Amino acid sequence: MDESLSIERGGERIDLGRRRFLNSAVTGAALAWAPAMMAAAQEQAAAAPDVPAGKKIKVGLIGCGSVSGSYLPNLRDTPWVELVSVCDRIPDRARRRAAEFNVPHAFPDVDAMLAGPPFDLLVNTTSMPSHYPVNKRALQAKRHVWSEKPMALDVAEARELLALAAANGVRLWAAPTCVLSPQFRFMADAIAAGKLGRVTAAHGTYGHNGPSWSAWFYEKGGGSLYDLGVYNVTTLSGLLGPVRAVVGMTAVLNKTRKVDDKGEIAVEADENTMLIMDHGNGVLSHVQTGFGYFDGETAPARERKLYTIDLVGTEGAMHLQGWDWGPAAVDVATPQRTTLTPACREPWPDGWQGGARYAARCLLTGERGLITPEHGLHVLDVMNACHESQRTGRRVAVETTFDWPIIKPK
Ligand SMILES: NC(=O)c1ccc[n+]([C@@H]2O[C@H](COP(=O)([O-])OP(=O)(O)OC[C@H]3O[C@@H](n4cnc5c(N)ncnc54)[C@H](O)[C@@H]3O)[C@@H](O)[C@H]2O)c1
Repeated sequence: MDESLSIERGGERIDLGRRRFLNSAVTGAALAWAPAMMAAAQEQAAAAPDVPAGKKIKVGLIGCGSVSGSYLPNLRDTPWVELVSVCDRIPDRARRRAAEFNVPHAFPDVDAMLAGPPFDLLVNTTSMPSHYPVNKRALQAKRHVWSEKPMALDVAEARELLALAAANGVRLWAAPTCVLSPQFRFMADAIAAGKLGRVTAAHGTYGHNGPSWSAWFYEKGGGSLYDLGVYNVTTLSGLLGPVRAVVGMTAVLNKTRKVDDKGEIAVEADENTMLIMDHGNGVLSHVQTGFGYFDGETAPARERKLYTIDLVGTEGAMHLQGWDWGPAAVDVATPQRTTLTPACREPWPDGWQGGARYAARCLLTGERGLITPEHGLHVLDVMNACHESQRTGRRVAVETTFDWPIIKPK
């Protein structure tokens, strides 16, 4: 199995199925306009400046829990990355990851790591409540930062991080990487080319029965929206534009949960969330996410049939097969072809766990890239507006914005 194309979910390693995909015949004829768009996407990717030969970005990764098991092999196997340090406040976790991935230095806290052997890019895979303080310390120390999502829990804190990065001449990125997939580009191009007519509405969904390994997912600062809904909010705002207002409802489903690190805990964060977004000009979208979802289809991401993103316009509809962090294809119907037909089955070698590798590449090539801190800040603002809507029972205006469209029309 190709390690970089597998993920850990709920303590299980899931094969994203690249080999199986490559070995299987591509089913269904692509729409007439689809190959042209895919060719254009490949052309644009090929036009990106190459990584200068022999140059490497030195990386320190902090947070040696579940997701580091997906990030570290990806970084170890990236020719333009040198892994210098790992860190975890549970020192044994850092030591074990260092041994497993041949990383020369292991530290028990961020300050010791920053004071240790120099590195350029801090990769933050700590728990969500630790993102802001860790990101801030790294930016203050003039390190570039790739942060797992969200970059902070509070919009004012996220703004502070953006200002700090600008003041210190370093770059800041936050997961997720959904806007980098070939399927995202395909959908963005189709919308911009008017293939769906006037796009009016969209829906995103992502849920499972909740992580079992760490309590923080259910404590204040955790929750299904920050952990899972964040992918759909990124995709839908990325495709339909900045959100202007939000109405949301959230619910706690279980008084208590049993988790590996703390036993039985009280659940404080959202486990069931509905979010309606107004993108302006009459365009509305909706995200549903939760930690109480039976994930009905167990096929690997690239073989999934279930739709997780649906886009509807006056002249067509598109449905994303697989997740937006692990997409399989885009099914399309138009007046010319009213049967849903799969298009854009392109593999996405970097995948969701390739964000830090992408950031390192941008640092070496000087590319601006498609993931911006302003978009990350906006996504946080939208999610917090959802929580505010739940608290107040009101529609909440969103003030932050970002440079859109992300994929510039030719
Ligand atoms: N687990 C996954 O499959 C997955 C997938 C995609 C994204 N993510 C995201 O990755 C992040 C981490 O998730 P996880 O599942 O790996 O969590 P986890 O609880 O398994 O691991 C987090 C690790 O960070 C360490 N940590 C927390 N605060 C720290 C600090 N201040 N200094 C040093 N170490 C600290 C903890 O000790 C722990 O080992 C979250 O933002 C999550 O949303 C996880």
